[in-house]
Amino acid sequence: MFQHLKAQPADKILTLMQMYREDPRETKIDLGVGVYKNAEGVTPVMRAIKAAEHRLWEEQETKAYVGLAGDPGFSDAMIKLILDDAVPRELVAAAATPGGTGAVRQAFELIQMANPKARVFVSNPTWPNHISILQYLGIETVTYRYFDDETRGVDVEGMLADLGDVRKGDVVLLHGCCHNPTGANLNLVDWQAVVDLLNAQGGVPMIDIAYQGFGDGLEADADATRLVASSVPECLIAASCSKNFGIYRERTGLLMAVSQEAGARALNQDTLAFLNRQNYSFPPDHGARLVTMILNDADLRADWAAELEDVRRSMLNLRQGLADELQRLSGSDRFGFLAQHRGMFSRLGASPELVEKLRSDHAIYMIGDSRMNIAGLNAKTIPILAKAIVDVGV
Ligand code: LMR
Repeated sequence: MFQHLKAQPADKILTLMQMYREDPRETKIDLGVGVYKNAEGVTPVMRAIKAAEHRLWEEQETKAYVGLAGDPGFSDAMIKLILDDAVPRELVAAAATPGGTGAVRQAFELIQMANPKARVFVSNPTWPNHISILQYLGIETVTYRYFDDETRGVDVEGMLADLGDVRKGDVVLLHGCCHNPTGANLNLVDWQAVVDLLNAQGGVPMIDIAYQGFGDGLEADADATRLVASSVPECLIAASCSKNFGIYRERTGLLMAVSQEAGARALNQDTLAFLNRQNYSFPPDHGARLVTMILNDADLRADWAAELEDVRRSMLNLRQGLADELQRLSGSDRFGFLAQHRGMFSRLGASPELVEKLRSDHAIYMIGDSRMNIAGLNAKTIPILAKAIVDVGV
């Protein structure tokens, strides 16, 4: 049996992570995998998570199974965090999943079950694992224009033109905020245009929201998702708690299926539970319980939101610092987009050859498409990176 296995294409992000670990150079800078790091290069456990873990350790009396869709209290708290009152709770089916990737995977499976002919439209570029999972499941994938190499912003016109090919029942995958890998985002006027177009074409939006709180703030980062969920007949939302709660390895996520048809929820809910059962039975509970505790406790919530806001501001400062230093060294404003982008990532717009040169000559690690994890920088490394960028001739 095993001799029939074929080597699978390596994941770009995880391969780079490994290369970085193996590089003996002390001056190396990791701008690869999307993990937040503070100025000391540490990915800290957030204060509220520590406090919630402490409380959980004292209070929890059983580790018996919860439910196939996870704890309904977790779903309620997350739906409120992401959608607030944009959609009545009774229109939302939801299930906990192992991380945001788990939610994405379950969403794709649901799409395939509901409509085997559905094509999934993804932005060019998108998170590489979106495409990898779609291909693995054999779902037809279509790309739509998104990143404008010239302006390093969104090519809204190109995007809307390409979404004109969406047929009734096709799904369009959108990043709720902090687009990964580019950092370039639609404004709310553009979002409305996308919604209007999808409604006209009969396309179903699927939102991947993995960085709420990392861009313009907890509420502002949810605006687009709220707009979509309240303006379309149905949509899917895959949410991650990995980044904004800093619980990467706990694998905590939620998949929501929103339908404006009141009668649809029960079947959607059963389907989400069924899909969980087929893939891993019960979703992990530890991270979900911590998140629920934090969101439902005024003190823990305030402390979590304050720490998240510090994280967001520190990334904005790093962005501005890098843009300023590049302006100083290059004598041009062409890197100003770095301060405009939002979230953890920015696509620098360097060729793969230059990205390789940054790695070989300067021990700077970014993904081959020139995606940089801004949180991998600090006050000391900003001048080093800026100089290297100018030196290699980006
Ligand atoms: C990333 O894009 O770097 C993160 O989402 C981590 C991952 O799993 O790829």
